[in-house]
This record gives sequence, C-alpha cells and structure tokens, in this order.
Amino acid sequence: MRPSAAAAGAPGSDEPDEADEPDEGDELDELDELDELDVGWLHAKPGVKWARYGAEVLPAWVADMDFPVPPVVRRALVAAVEGGDLGYPSWHGGTPLRAAFAERMVERYRWAADPAKVRELTDVVQGFQLSLHLASSPGDAVALQTPAYPPFLASITEMGRRLVAVPMEDTAGGWRFDPDRAEAAIAGAGCKVLVVVNPHNPTGRVLDRGELEALAGIAERHDLVVVTDEIHAELAFPPARHVPFASLGPEAARRTITLTSATKAFNLAGIRCALAHVGPDAVRAAWDGAPSHLYGQPGNLSVLATLAAWRDGGPWAGAVLGRLRARRDEVVARLAAEAPAARLHPPEGTYLAWIDLSAYGLGDDPAAAVLAAGRVALGHGPDFGPGGQGFARLNFATSPAVLSGVLDRLVGALAGRDGPGR
Ligand SMILES: Cc1ncc(COP(=O)(O)O)c(C=O)c1O
Repeated sequence: MRPSAAAAGAPGSDEPDEADEPDEGDELDELDELDELDVGWLHAKPGVKWARYGAEVLPAWVADMDFPVPPVVRRALVAAVEGGDLGYPSWHGGTPLRAAFAERMVERYRWAADPAKVRELTDVVQGFQLSLHLASSPGDAVALQTPAYPPFLASITEMGRRLVAVPMEDTAGGWRFDPDRAEAAIAGAGCKVLVVVNPHNPTGRVLDRGELEALAGIAERHDLVVVTDEIHAELAFPPARHVPFASLGPEAARRTITLTSATKAFNLAGIRCALAHVGPDAVRAAWDGAPSHLYGQPGNLSVLATLAAWRDGGPWAGAVLGRLRARRDEVVARLAAEAPAARLHPPEGTYLAWIDLSAYGLGDDPAAAVLAAGRVALGHGPDFGPGGQGFARLNFATSPAVLSGVLDRLVGALAGRDGPGR
C-alpha cells in the first residue's frame, strides 16, 4: 500500500501527482493512513533511520517519526517549487518565522515572546553551540541534566567546556531531579550556562512549573545563562503541559535562550530550520555583531515548510499526538506483560521510551545485544552519558504493526531466544 493517499512524490509512490490542491478528503485519508505504514515504503526511505541497518532490521532508534510528510507541508513545498521562484527571498529584517513563532508562543502557552529577539538557525544543535560560544568560554562549566541528548554532551566537550552533570533520578514517581543537589554541583564549579531540555530526551519527562522555577532560582543565584531546548514542546501528552522556561517571568526571560523548531512535532528533521529566542541582551548583541553570513541561515523551502506546519498543521499534529500516546501505552503494556524486568516510566512527552534493561545482564549497552539477537535497532544508553549504562531508548513513533514487530523482536531478544524474524 501507499504510505499515504496524498503523498505525491513520496518514495515508492507511483500515483499520479493529483493531490496538490488542498482537499478535505485527502486530509482525512492522510490521517487514516498514519496507522497503516507500508513496510516496503519505510525500508526504501533514504533517510538514516531506515537506511542505516538494512532490510533485516527494524529501526526504533534516531528521533524521526515514520509518518509521511504532513500534507499541508507537502502542498506548500510543491506550490513554492511550481510557483517558479527559488531565488533570494525578500526577507528584510528576518524571516516571517519571527512573527509566526511569537504568535505560536502566545496562542499555545500565553508567553509573549518578542519577535525582535528571534534569530533563525539551521538546527537546534547549531543554536546550542552558538549559545555556548557566545555565553561562555573554553574552560567554563556547563550544567546539563543527565542522561542527555548525545550531541549536547559532545558539543560541551568539543568546545572545551566542562560538564557539570545534574542527574535525573529514577524515583517511584518517575524521573525527577534534586534541586539542592543540582545547586550544590553548580555552585563553585565555574558554571556559566545551565542547559534545560524540556520535554526531556531521553527520559520523556515534562518538567512542571515548580521544577522549572527551582532551576530558574538556581540560574538567578549563580548568574547563569539558561539555554532551554524545547524542540519536543508540542509532544507533551495531557495532563502534562509544557511551560516555556522564558515564560516563568521577566527575570527568567532576560537570561534565557529558547531553542525550538517545527521539526519534531511535524517530522521534518531534514529540512534544517530552527529558531532561537535570545533573551539576554549581551548574548543577542554578540550574536548580531558577528559577520553577517558567519552563522548561515535556513533556506526558503525550510522556512516555508515551517510556516505551513505552524499555520495549517494543527489537525495533523493533533492526530499524530493521539497516535503517539496510544503507541506509548502499547509499549508500557507489552513490556509489563512480556518483559516485566524491563523498567520504564511512561514518558509524559516525546515519542521516546527510556528503558532500563539492566536486569537482563546484557552489559552497559543492551541495545547492542538486542540488535544482534533480535534485529531491532534501539538507541544505545551509554551514548546518553552518565546514567545511560544498562538503558536503551526506543522510538515508538510508528504504526501499530511496525511497533508490534519492534516489540516482538525486543521481547524475543530479552527472552534469550532469537527474534521471531518478522
Ligand atoms: C532534545 C533534542 N534537541 C535537539 C535535537 C536535534 O535538533 P536539530 O536537528 O534541529 O539539531 C533533537 C533530535 O532528536 C533532540 O531530541
């Protein structure tokens, strides 16, 4: 089957290119087909998720969803190309994303972000590195909750900063951190930057207002710039609610750099487009003081894709969030029933399950053993730094059938037998 009724030009689709016009019927078909992804189409996808491990492996590792491009984005891109102009855009004083971002923050979170403080990026990791570059110096320390998104750990080291690990703690009530312990680690360490990743990758925790306020207090007492990565904000499952760090109040806002993009919620990681809302005046001045092309900028098509997703992608994103929640529940239920020694706290956001497999005696990196025995590719726990040993990260953003295959193989590998070969 096709991955989606309206996926004109999608790999493996030989359908006529008939769906360029918005059409309610197409929209409904597309939503229906979020549940029926064609495995042949998935395996033929050129992206890294399905290409890296080949046809024998089911991939549940890198943070891409398996769903096709949202139809509103596809239509916007087709219209732009067919409109015939991929020349230099006419964007003076910033792209239209600055205003679109500010509008979205007010609508979703009642945060009055300032469009004049928004800067375009090619990706969030670039924004992270730029923030470290402008708000700290080699030798300074950077506090980061661990386990952590691997490129952030690597960036800290590559840029000659020192990591101050703030451990997320595995409690009966879920993943928490101890603000007193965090402050003790930060105090006297020569810290200049506090990194907050919320919703948190890999644990899936959505920090509540009280926890964020505790972090804001630490930042204020130790005069830290806060770099907050909120790329998964729109993937919080109610009743969990995302609170932008910079919305906590004027003091938090003036020391916070917020990094985000449409790429996680709308499955567009390859478009290379992200935003920074740069609260600290000194950092923004340094940012703007750089030679005009030094930091690059996103291309026309990625800006248009982001605008289309934000302006018209609500129904698609809502439908996806419902599916992700159902898939999460499936992961939790099946592991509880079939691999009860696998421990996880149901993620409150993201489409990533952070699973403690240490009871299975598979060593520090159970994903490696599970790949070999079960032919399913999970994220490797040790890649996420301190606290990652014995864990694996499972991406459940896929169809019920593919997830069922992933879980069959995982459970089979954990049971010490070969995967069932699906
Ligand atoms: C927490 C987090 N931040 C950033 C990124 C990467 O964003 P980008 O591709 O815009 O650099 C990811 C990707 O998985 C992520 O999970």
